[in-house]
Amino acid sequence: MSRSPSLHPLARVEAFTARVGIRLPILLAPMAGACPPSLSIAVANAGGMGACGAALMPPDSIASWAKNFRAQSSGQFQINLWTPDPPPLRDAEAEKRQREFLARWGPSVSPEMGDSVLPDFEALCRAAVAARPKAISSIMGLFASEYVGELKEKGILWLATATTVEEARAAEAAGADAVIAQGMEAGGHRGAFRAEDAESHMVGLMALLPQIADAVSIPVIAAGAIADGRAVAATLILGASAVLIGTAFLRSPEAQLNAACAERLGRTDSHQTALTRAFTGRLARGIRNRFIDAAAAPDAPPAAPYSVQRGYTRPMREEATRSGDTDRMQMWAGQAARLAQAQPAAEIVQRIWSEARQFLQS
Ligand SMILES: Cc1cc2nc3c(=O)[nH]c(=O)nc-3n(C[C@H](O)[C@H](O)[C@H](O)COP(=O)(O)O)c2cc1C
Repeated sequence: MSRSPSLHPLARVEAFTARVGIRLPILLAPMAGACPPSLSIAVANAGGMGACGAALMPPDSIASWAKNFRAQSSGQFQINLWTPDPPPLRDAEAEKRQREFLARWGPSVSPEMGDSVLPDFEALCRAAVAARPKAISSIMGLFASEYVGELKEKGILWLATATTVEEARAAEAAGADAVIAQGMEAGGHRGAFRAEDAESHMVGLMALLPQIADAVSIPVIAAGAIADGRAVAATLILGASAVLIGTAFLRSPEAQLNAACAERLGRTDSHQTALTRAFTGRLARGIRNRFIDAAAAPDAPPAAPYSVQRGYTRPMREEATRSGDTDRMQMWAGQAARLAQAQPAAEIVQRIWSEARQFLQS
């Protein structure tokens, strides 16, 4: 896909939506663990694009996700994969201190919990292609050239997440069909290609988006704290061809979010999210709570690397979710959480787009 930067934003939108086979330039953000088919169905039937956050799914469940989607929508969806990090460097002494710290917040944690294995990446890649989505997106890195070749051969678009101009350029050079520019406002994990760069690569969308748009010739999809028509219009003017929205859909009934988390989301001000490694070991933005604050204290032990830390926090996270305890719950959300409305997802899509059009046409 190529993009002419000189086009009027609405002409750019039209070129992108025609290529992707959607009516509106609104893409549901892939959200591992928070992307039930119901949410994608609602967004796609309203004219946008659905998303399956497949990073943590057993590979064979991707097919049933796609089947569920297709039973109720003839619209489009993407499947999202996390490119794997190098094997984590383990530090037995530091991990012991981390387990002792976590035992003060939930059930005791055994050393083996740090060894929990992620779904096999190759199997996920195969299952994603077999589901024949319109697009497969990457985060945390780039796909290998053989896989990119396979996607091109099968007519599946590659949407590559980038958090810096440099990553966006690398994605275009590797054959990406579009770049998702993930601003630092975004909810969930940071997409920095190298986990250790995440803290120092914090660029807000207002700065990131126009610079990526200048640097690449493929379409750019804006992500991070986009929750209403003002933000959509602004990002399209800054050079985006479409937007990717996560947090603003999380209070819709179709998202089926934990009730305590959904309630908390609706009263989270823009300064009340935080970036933390404390839940998974990879930097991510979520609603600030007592656990995140305690883990950030100067005397707290450092988080273990991804996905060791994810394994260690699992008992606490599960207990917190079951009991609705938001002091310990993992609640990924972006800086515009307060703007998320408890409204059916289709109405959110329609409201946001009709507001945006008014700004762009006047
Ligand atoms: C609950 C949650 C889970 C997420 N999981 C993923 C994921 O699995 N893969 C991914 O590429 N991005 C993930 N993200 C990031 C989103 O794709 C997107 O960048 C972000 O939601 C945009 O910012 P916003 O939440 O402010 O709209 C997640 C975000 C949230 C809120």
